[in-house]
Amino acid sequence: MVDLLVIGAGPGGYVAAIRAAQLGLTVACVDEHATLGGTCLRIGCIPSKALLESSEKYREAKEDLAKHGVKVTGVTFDLAAMMQRKEAVVKANTDGLNYLFKKHRIRHYQGRGELRAPGKVVVQAPEGNSELEAKRILIATGSKPASLPGIKVDGEIIGTSTEALSYPTVPEHLVVIGAGIIGLELGSVWNRLGAKVTVVEYLERILPTLDGEIANEAQKIFTKQGLTFRLGSRVTGAHVENGKAVVTVAGSEALHADRVLVAVGRVPNTEGLGLANVGVKVDQQGRIVVDGRYQTSVAGIYAIGDAIGGAMLAHEAEEEGIACVEAFVGGYGHVDYNSIPAVVYTEPELASVGKTEEQLKEAGIRYRKGVFPYQANGRARALGQTEGKAKILAAAETDRVLGVHIIGARAGDLIAEAAVAMAFGASSEDIARASHAHPTLAEVLKEAALAVDGRALHL
Ligand code: FAD
Ligand code: NAI
Repeated sequence: MVDLLVIGAGPGGYVAAIRAAQLGLTVACVDEHATLGGTCLRIGCIPSKALLESSEKYREAKEDLAKHGVKVTGVTFDLAAMMQRKEAVVKANTDGLNYLFKKHRIRHYQGRGELRAPGKVVVQAPEGNSELEAKRILIATGSKPASLPGIKVDGEIIGTSTEALSYPTVPEHLVVIGAGIIGLELGSVWNRLGAKVTVVEYLERILPTLDGEIANEAQKIFTKQGLTFRLGSRVTGAHVENGKAVVTVAGSEALHADRVLVAVGRVPNTEGLGLANVGVKVDQQGRIVVDGRYQTSVAGIYAIGDAIGGAMLAHEAEEEGIACVEAFVGGYGHVDYNSIPAVVYTEPELASVGKTEEQLKEAGIRYRKGVFPYQANGRARALGQTEGKAKILAAAETDRVLGVHIIGARAGDLIAEAAVAMAFGASSEDIARASHAHPTLAEVLKEAALAVDGRALHL
């Protein structure tokens, strides 16, 4: 019997396993895959960022280097080599996990885990079933792509992000269903590599979870980059006819494409997990219901990450895993959900933390706003990346930072400062008074903080 059995070796599960081992617990981790790392390392965060980087390098060589006086002619790319590099990046990360599991003496069982009773899990593996016993069980089984009625995902012409990370050739026309994070990141990859990309979105805006002003600016930039948006369009079906996809859209003509990426969200991965065997409750969306300590409706069974409610982000899953196991040992664990950042790794990147303007308005919270454009930042000019802006929203009475939203070069790195500021309850004045190295993109954030008080220096 181990102290903790984790089901799922994604960022939620593997981080929880490592932290539990650091705290002196004996730990085992079951995952159906031979490779550790879950969705994020195998078919999510890591491979998508590898392809975003490679495709952006190609675009830059073709379109931007000349602006720096660097002449390159005959720029081409080798898709197979790009894919091989992506696989190597994934392998370096997953191999790293094998090492960490060994270092912390975490036993990895390959197979599908099914709950049989509190403290008992059956692992179904090709070589036979085995039963494991644990004092506590942590479910970290993550999520899988959602689909829509009328869409038949065949895993080839009509597929999900998993297929879009590995197309063997560049599609002539790619239809992306859903202008969320996956649709825009992977739509950008294939657009840069030469595909015509049409993004069909049900809502009247893109990136519905982000601040409206920032998403609006992003839409203009992505349109300039060549993405076509069909907003306010509800996809009613997609099927394959004579080797091509036909995507039907309510109230307008069907779209024809050689590949379709269905990116309409993700759903918790709890099928076959045996939740009903032990009485673990799920909500109407199939998310496992947990209390403030991530305990499910059954004592001794806990759940974290994409399998429960909240944002489906790797770092949120990690924080939940840490808080959950720290509470086992120390009696206390906490996640500050308000200061969890989100990043969209397009070019430019989008990043946010805290409340959007729409959320503040809806809640009737009075705020002041400071905006600073990249255009007025010396480093952005030197980089030749002047698109975008940073926006800081601070409480009108107290000046406490309530939300930070950035679109622009390296926004994903800049947001870390904002997340730390929010975690420490900083005011916009605190950010404005802190020295920021010159010339850096971080000065965009300092200037946006000054702008909250109407005193940006370089505008
Ligand atoms: P997962 O990573 O989904 O891991 C769960 C694991 O459990 C999987 O290996 C699964 O096979 C296994 N499993 C499930 N059921 C069982 C069972 N019964 N028995 C055994 N094993 C089981 N998030 C970010 O923060 N940043 C990004 O840049 C980012 N990019 C993404 C790009 C793509 C294309 C996708 C699809 C997702 C991306 N995400 C990103 C989201 C991120 O991958 C998830 O939020 C994160 O992986 C959730 O972690 P998790 O540990 O909850 O679950
Ligand atoms: P999403 O929730 O971000 O976007 C889905 C989009 O599809 C929404 O805009 C929605 O309005 C639209 N949609 C739904 N039904 C539709 C229909 N019938 N027709 C047209 N559009 C429709 O989901 P996505 O992009 O699939 O990503 C899933 C999750 O993965 C996200 O929640 C995100 O947290 C995570 N992720 C995070 C990344 C990051 O942090 N950089 C990168 C990729 C994924």
